[in-house]
Amino acid sequence: MANNNESIHGAWRNRWTFILAATGSAVGLGNIWKFPYITGEYGGGAFVLVYLMCIALVGIPVMMAEVAMGRRGRQSPINSMKALVSEAKAGPGWKLIGWMGALAGFLILSFYSVVAGWSLSYVLKLATGTFSEVDQALAGAEFEGLLGDPGTLMIWHTLFMILTVGVVIRGVNKGIESTISVLMPLLFVLLVVLIGYGASKGDIMSAVHFMFDADFSKLTKEAVLVALGHSFFTLSLGMGAIMAYGSYMPRNASISSTVFTVAGLDTLVALLAGLAIFPIVFANGLEPSAGPGLMFVTLPFTFGQMPGGQFFGALFFILVAFAAWSSAISLIEPATAWVVERFKISRAKACSIIGVIIWMLGIGSVLSFNDWSEFHLLPGKTIFDSFDFITANIMLPLGGLLIALFVGFGMKYHHAYNEMNMKNAGLFNLWYVVLRFLTPIAIAIVFINGLLPECSFDSELLNAETGECGNSTFLMPRFIGGVVLAIAYIAIIAMSLKKTSRGLSS
Ligand code: TRP
Repeated sequence: MANNNESIHGAWRNRWTFILAATGSAVGLGNIWKFPYITGEYGGGAFVLVYLMCIALVGIPVMMAEVAMGRRGRQSPINSMKALVSEAKAGPGWKLIGWMGALAGFLILSFYSVVAGWSLSYVLKLATGTFSEVDQALAGAEFEGLLGDPGTLMIWHTLFMILTVGVVIRGVNKGIESTISVLMPLLFVLLVVLIGYGASKGDIMSAVHFMFDADFSKLTKEAVLVALGHSFFTLSLGMGAIMAYGSYMPRNASISSTVFTVAGLDTLVALLAGLAIFPIVFANGLEPSAGPGLMFVTLPFTFGQMPGGQFFGALFFILVAFAAWSSAISLIEPATAWVVERFKISRAKACSIIGVIIWMLGIGSVLSFNDWSEFHLLPGKTIFDSFDFITANIMLPLGGLLIALFVGFGMKYHHAYNEMNMKNAGLFNLWYVVLRFLTPIAIAIVFINGLLPECSFDSELLNAETGECGNSTFLMPRFIGGVVLAIAYIAIIAMSLKKTSRGLSS
């Protein structure tokens, strides 16, 4: 198999460049824009706690598996999966991991680029003093105005896609590595500055209480699903981005310690972003549950009130754009690498073609906020919301589940053991057991429970006035979910075991 020492696309100079690139991928809009607003929507502390548990029990084990798969395959995720499947003589169904991942990458980047475009446009707005001395209503109107204007949204979306493609066409070393080494240090400096700003000007104690006092009565099933989905999204897991980056990783680097570093930094940035944003929200008597507009209304308004806000505000959005940029690179890299391998064309051509396809998909998201706002792909969800929901809450957890099962059951034990190359066999076995049993069961339970609306089982729970489902402890769906899950789980294991033993006897 293609288990040689280097990928045709290049290799990271050392372990630290992998850490930097993977952190660049992980730290993005998910941390600075999405995490604060979903924490606000799902009630704060309890949500944060569940999210942290998801990172520890699901995110980190899956990330280790994904890096290991990439490094062993040494190709684009689609072809790495092919190679790994044939090495393990496992069933062909596992190749779904590569294909579904590429599709998820297209969908995610298409809406991600639109939001990144908002932050680009906000750099300009803040720098030119658009928010100086405006009141809150005007700040809100400014954001609404941007969303209502498809032409402007298109310009920024296009610009962001050009920036992303511009890096990736220059290759793993000259493009990705050199860009990341500049962006990442800048990012951390700015976050620290902004926390200082939040702490001195804002109400930091309310923010701390909001983020860390756990009130479990506020925790709904959907909140748990969103926390799980977000742990995949924020660590860039489940679609092959980390697998692609793993394929450029040096043989001798330790996967476990690098993954802990990346996951730790990502979590730190998310919490710090919360601590930078919520104090300002509370100090202005605003609601933390402001949704996607949280960062684009509350913050600019506040910056507009502060001395030096014009400068710091512009700087803040530059940094958001940088964070988004280093993530977008990792969303387009897996498909680019595959097209280069499959069609033997230049990276520049491959990446441009993919960029154009994603750019076109993004038009749907642009129009979700204006001309097509009435068009629903999923019930009650615009194209933008649907892409976000389908990828973060379905495709990524499913991808993660399959990755855990593949390394746990599809791959040979000694291959996984060699690839992880952990000094401590006990630690390896701990990870292996978590990955085989705890992680898949946790994902599947959350998944099935979160997706089945309780009201489809018991219409009495439906609140006729609001159309919402009562947050009850109704157990039937959970029970049915559990049974479906158990059957699916046993079937997958049986399938992979059968393939393995057949492979061995032949
Ligand atoms: N992790 C990034 C963020 O938090 C987004 C991202 C980059 C991503 N690459 C990914 C999400 C791959 C899922 C899969 O903003």
